[in-house]
Amino acid sequence: MARRADRRLSATGATYWLSSYELGAEIENQDALRWNARYGRDGQGWLAKPPAQLLMDHLWLLPKSGCALDAAAGVGTNGLFLARRGLNVLALDVSLVGLRLAMERARQNGGNFAAVVYDLSRLWLPENHFDLVLNFRFLIRSTFTQYRRGLKPGGVLVFESFVSSPHADHPSPYHLKPGELLDAFGDFEILFHRVVPGKRKYADRPRWIEQLIARKPKKTA
Ligand SMILES: C[S@@+](CC[C@H](N)C(=O)[O-])C[C@H]1O[C@@H](n2cnc3c(N)ncnc32)[C@H](O)[C@@H]1O
Repeated sequence: MARRADRRLSATGATYWLSSYELGAEIENQDALRWNARYGRDGQGWLAKPPAQLLMDHLWLLPKSGCALDAAAGVGTNGLFLARRGLNVLALDVSLVGLRLAMERARQNGGNFAAVVYDLSRLWLPENHFDLVLNFRFLIRSTFTQYRRGLKPGGVLVFESFVSSPHADHPSPYHLKPGELLDAFGDFEILFHRVVPGKRKYADRPRWIEQLIARKPKKTA
C-alpha cells in the first residue's frame, strides 16, 4: 500500500526531489503509529507552522549550500525552508504520513529535498558527509554519536529539544538532562546556546527548551 502511493508520487513528473532517495516502506512501530495518526488528524495544522525561530534568527551561522540532514523532519518545515535556500536536504522520519506531506509541499515549492522513512533509533550516517544537521523537538540519545560522525569538519549542528527541570523529581527519559547536550558536543565550537521556557500550553507542567548551535571542529594537525 505504502509503496504504491510512493510510486504515484514519483510518477507526477516532479522527480527531482526523489533523485537518489525514496520514501520507502511504512514502519509500524509505536512511534510511527502515533505520529502517523497525529499527522493524519492535523497535517494542515503542522504544515501551517513557520520554520523554527532558532533557524530564522541564526541563518548567518548556517551553510547556504551543501548537504543537510533534517532528522525527525515531520512535515519537513525546517528542511524545506533550507532546501529553498540552496541546501540539498535529506529528511528522515519514522512517519510516512508526515513525510508525504513534506514531499507534496516540496513538489509545489521546489528545492532539492529528499525524504526517507527511517527509524532514527537505528541511525547510521556516513562519516564527514553533512554540512548541517537539524534535530528539532526530538530526542534519541544514540543519534548523538552519529551526528558527530556524519557532520563534516566545520559542519554545523542545530539542536532544539525539551529539557528536564533541574528540580524535577522524575525527569522524563524523553527530555534532555541539564548539561547533557553540552557534554555530548562539548568539543564542538558553541555558536549559540540557551535554555528557554516553552510555550505555556501545558501550564501544569512547565516545560523548558534547550537550543544549541555548534560547529564540529576542523581537524587539527
Ligand atoms: C515533535 S515532532 C518534530 C517534527 C519536526 N522536527 C519539527 O520540529 O516540526 C517529532 C518527530 O519525531 C518523529 N519520530 C519519533 N520517533 C522517531 C523515530 N524513532 N525515528 C524517526 N523519527 C521519529 C515523529 O514522527 C515526529 O515527526
